[in-house]
Parts: sequence; C-alpha cells; structure tokens
Amino acid sequence: MERLQKFIANSGYCSRRKAEELIQKGKVFIDGKIITELGTKVSGKEEIMIEGNLLKKEEKEYYLLNKPRGVITSLKDDKNRKTVVDIINSKVRIYPVGRLDYDTTGVLLLTNDGEFANILMHPNPKIEKVYTAKVRGIIKGEQINKLKNGVLIDGRKTEKTHVKLRRVDLKNNTSYVSLILHEGRNHQVKRMFQAVGFEVIKLKRDRVGIFTLDGLASGEFRKLTPKEVAIIYSFKK
Ligand code: URA
Repeated sequence: MERLQKFIANSGYCSRRKAEELIQKGKVFIDGKIITELGTKVSGKEEIMIEGNLLKKEEKEYYLLNKPRGVITSLKDDKNRKTVVDIINSKVRIYPVGRLDYDTTGVLLLTNDGEFANILMHPNPKIEKVYTAKVRGIIKGEQINKLKNGVLIDGRKTEKTHVKLRRVDLKNNTSYVSLILHEGRNHQVKRMFQAVGFEVIKLKRDRVGIFTLDGLASGEFRKLTPKEVAIIYSFKK
C-alpha cells in the first residue's frame, strides 16, 4: 500500500506537492468516491480519477548514464544549467538515483521507479559505490589508513572503507586513490579527503553495484535490462 499523493506522483501525473493540493481541493476520486484525506492509502488496483482524468500507470524506465563533467544532477536548475535528465530526454518523469557533484563524472542511474531508487540509495554491503579520486599532493600510507578506518564528517565517523593508492605522479604532484563506499553522504569523497588534508581535483564513479561504465563513453547512456532490474530488486531487505 502506498500513500495516494506518492502513488499519483509516481504515476507521472504531477509532483507529489501538486498531488497533495489536488487531493485537498477535492479533485481526486477513488472508485468514484471523493478523497480529501492526505493519509489515504492505495494498492494500485483502484480506479483513480484526477480532475476528470483516469490515472494511467506509467511504464517504468531505468537508465545508466556515464555522467559528464559540467552537468547538474537534479531535475531543474535555477541557473538554467544542463541537467542529467535533459541528456536522457525521456517522455516520463525520471529522476537521478542519488547525486553526483557538478564536476564529478561516471556511473549515475536514473529511473521513475521509487522503490528501485530506494533500494540503491539505502546503505547495503551488496551495493558498492566505487570511486577514483585524483587529489592534489602526494598522499602517504598514514593518510590512506585514516581514510580506511573512518574520518569525522559533521561529527560522525565514516564507515570502514576499502581504500587503495593507485598511483602517485611526482611530476604533477598528484595522487590517484580508489575507494569503495556503501554509504552515500553528501560530498562524501571530497569531505573524506578534506578531513585528511587533501583536495580532490577530479572524481569519477566507476561502479555502483553491478553497474559499470563498460561500453559507455562520457555523456552516453543505455537502458537497463530486465535482468539487471531484477538483480537490484533481489537486494531488497
Ligand atoms: N562524493 C563526492 O564528494 N562527490 C560526488 O559527486 C560523489 C561522492
């Protein structure tokens, strides 16, 4: 069972806020009965009528994008910058699963399936998020160990993490480090490096769970296969 306003929003008819407004204004009918209670729950089997339109269930869509730099991970941008949703240009209301910063590249999933998105966003040992960071300076074993054991971000320690020093570039004074995260805190990678005194100058997400960038150049995307979607659903707790 799902709350009516969420169900309407997930169907693609309008946003959740707009759905709440329509319910409160008495524009929504379930099986011919007017509903004005925001707490009403539906199973999906009901006939839902909004402003005289019969609500059709929207087909679910799932995409994997190799996000380029300079694109924003949101539905709209008040500065009119290009968004990841503009790249895919789907007819249905898809949205990104989690966030990558404006200058971060790599694996990003987009969908209109809220349940699928929730499974991926919930910390889960089976859904690893693998990043490669290029940082300014030459990083030492001591700092790598601190990252591995967890550092404080906003007063809370990050989980134990796999961290590997890939390469140092003495000439350009940079280091390349890969990390495997299960959490997804805001700007987590950049803030973890900041906590050990390093600035991230490039960040790429190489993998999320089973999804890699294989076959996708920067800015390219593909639909997920039904099998891939089923694998993610099998991780539901
Ligand atoms: N961590 C960051 O700092 N930025 C991202 O875009 C993703 C993870």
